[in-house]
Amino acid sequence: MSLLKIARMGNPVLRQKAAAVDDPQAPWVRRLVKDMVETMEDAGGTGLAAPQVHAPWRSVVFFVSGERLSGLPGDVAQQLTVLINPVVEPVGEERAFGWEGCLSVPGMRGLVPRHLRIRYHALDLDGNLVEREAAGFHARVVQHECDHLDGILYPQRLVDLRHLFFMDELERHPVDLAEFLGETLVE
Ligand code: NI
Repeated sequence: MSLLKIARMGNPVLRQKAAAVDDPQAPWVRRLVKDMVETMEDAGGTGLAAPQVHAPWRSVVFFVSGERLSGLPGDVAQQLTVLINPVVEPVGEERAFGWEGCLSVPGMRGLVPRHLRIRYHALDLDGNLVEREAAGFHARVVQHECDHLDGILYPQRLVDLRHLFFMDELERHPVDLAEFLGETLVE
């Protein structure tokens, strides 16, 4: 087992556009993904993108636990998923704010607007097409992870820097989202 070092905000590897993976079945890709999964699990993350472990390739891993689902149709728990060369498209115009954290921005949480519904496709490690529609938290996780492949971290998606919090302050002083965001709750 190999735990990989996680790059933090400020490291140039997190700002660059990752390159497409030519052959998803290549042994090095399988090894990288296996190490990414172990690193994500060890760090207690929900998802991890390859650039976060200094490997600038278009590959992400994530899972969606049943605990944070929005109740929207399409927002269902997902087993550990590997996406190679993912492509994400919004479905409809609706966006919503929700909490995000990132292993590359430790100790912080932000209120980030994301498309409420998306569809995405990618290849898996066997070269098979993965195609899904997603909503709510599932859609949020995929958008967050795929942003990493274009060199974007969630703080760059904030619409107001007051939406960025230290996690331990947030635990001490919980935020009532409806009150805090007011009219900006859903765009
Ligand atoms: Ni992240």
